[in-house]
Amino acid sequence: MSLHTTPNSVQETVEAQGHLIDSHIMERIFDTVVEYQGRFEVEKFQIGRTNSEPSHLRLKVETPSKELMLQLLGQLLGLGCSPADSGDAYLVTVDRDMCAPEDFYSTTNQRTQVRINQQWIDVQKQRMDALVVVENGQARCSRLRDVKAGDQVITGMRGIRVIPESKERDRLAFAFMSNGISSERQVETAVRQTAALIEGARAEKKKVVIVAGPVVVHTGGVVPLSNMIRAGFVDAILSGNALGVHDIENALLGTSLGVRQSDGRQEEHGHRNHMRAINAIYHAGSVKGAVESGRLKSGVLYECVKANVPFVLAGSLRDDGPLPDTITDMNEAQDAYNEHLQGAGLVLCLGSMLHSIATGNMLPSWVKIVCVDINPAVATKVSDRGTGQMVGVVTDVGLFLDLLSKALIAK
Ligand SMILES: NC(=O)c1ccc[n+]([C@@H]2O[C@H](COP(=O)([O-])OP(=O)(O)OC[C@H]3O[C@@H](n4cnc5c(N)ncnc54)[C@H](O)[C@@H]3O)[C@@H](O)[C@H]2O)c1
Repeated sequence: MSLHTTPNSVQETVEAQGHLIDSHIMERIFDTVVEYQGRFEVEKFQIGRTNSEPSHLRLKVETPSKELMLQLLGQLLGLGCSPADSGDAYLVTVDRDMCAPEDFYSTTNQRTQVRINQQWIDVQKQRMDALVVVENGQARCSRLRDVKAGDQVITGMRGIRVIPESKERDRLAFAFMSNGISSERQVETAVRQTAALIEGARAEKKKVVIVAGPVVVHTGGVVPLSNMIRAGFVDAILSGNALGVHDIENALLGTSLGVRQSDGRQEEHGHRNHMRAINAIYHAGSVKGAVESGRLKSGVLYECVKANVPFVLAGSLRDDGPLPDTITDMNEAQDAYNEHLQGAGLVLCLGSMLHSIATGNMLPSWVKIVCVDINPAVATKVSDRGTGQMVGVVTDVGLFLDLLSKALIAK
């Protein structure tokens, strides 16, 4: 990257390629230049003439200062617009574990390429808020805490190309996916489209991962989710202590948070029930132990054990117990989530703000996420935290699961 500087301005030439018009990237590039007090001049624009052919843009940008130009280039990079003829990425060797050079490049969740030895290569294990480590001609995302002394880390903005996701015009669920957060009126459509996305992921031999909060149990979602696990539609469940506690309370005592599932009434002294459930699992040693001894005979976790579907219960400050299976070291819990998200084609987040945002942070932008929550602000929040590919469905999660399991299993 070579900035051309005059006393009153700094100039740079940037380039972008892709579905720039119909994905609204071009207008965002222009708006960003203006936002940073810049001016632009289109040097070349070649429009893609078919729905698959990309467009190509070459733009001269000018800002009043070097600082503004560096900020502008950082923003443009996220829109897939990088300095033309930028040369190789700049590598700095880390001298202490977990301590990166100050101007390390911090990733987005979008597909990224870096230029090493004059070759553009794809960055592996793409996720947001990571560093890029280059080793043996390969580049991969690494969390700050995983960086080791001796690692070669990319710094600055040279030799980095981000390729934003563009609209997939021919996708079956295009209308649904482009809607962002859908209202309750569209629940049945959203269910049908989600079922199609699940089928699509399975057809591509990719995983369907469920992220679920305890409200799945409170709203009667245990039976439909159990049916989906039994029918083979779920490859992993990522959750917290509460889902496990209330699922087991429901299985052993017929209540969730003391409320009877049969008639929705609070059971006398029912508030103890979830503690009795935890105690039962302590006696068995683990959820698996409780299934194997015959103590636990139904529920989401029971079905997981029976079908060999992995589940992760991540701990939190709110937890009672916690269950012996709950991972209380947060780094380990993140690692376990991350492991089961590898190879995911669709992630379905059901009524858990904490775990939905955490999961979104670990995924590359091309993995589809459907987030079901009664509160529209939650879906918006997941999306605002950088998980822009997320589609929100605003509805009761028990109702959604009931419709979804019927849509899948009736087929
Ligand atoms: N007893 C316990 O150990 C216990 C109890 C509760 C929570 N926790 C832990 O606390 C953490 C956060 O818990 P969380 O994930 O439940 O809280 P959260 O606030 O992150 O998420 C709950 C979500 O459910 C949504 N919701 C509520 N009713 C709904 C409905 N009918 N349909 C759809 N969505 C609905 C809310 O809008 C909210 O977004 C987790 O780690 C959990 O395991 C532990």
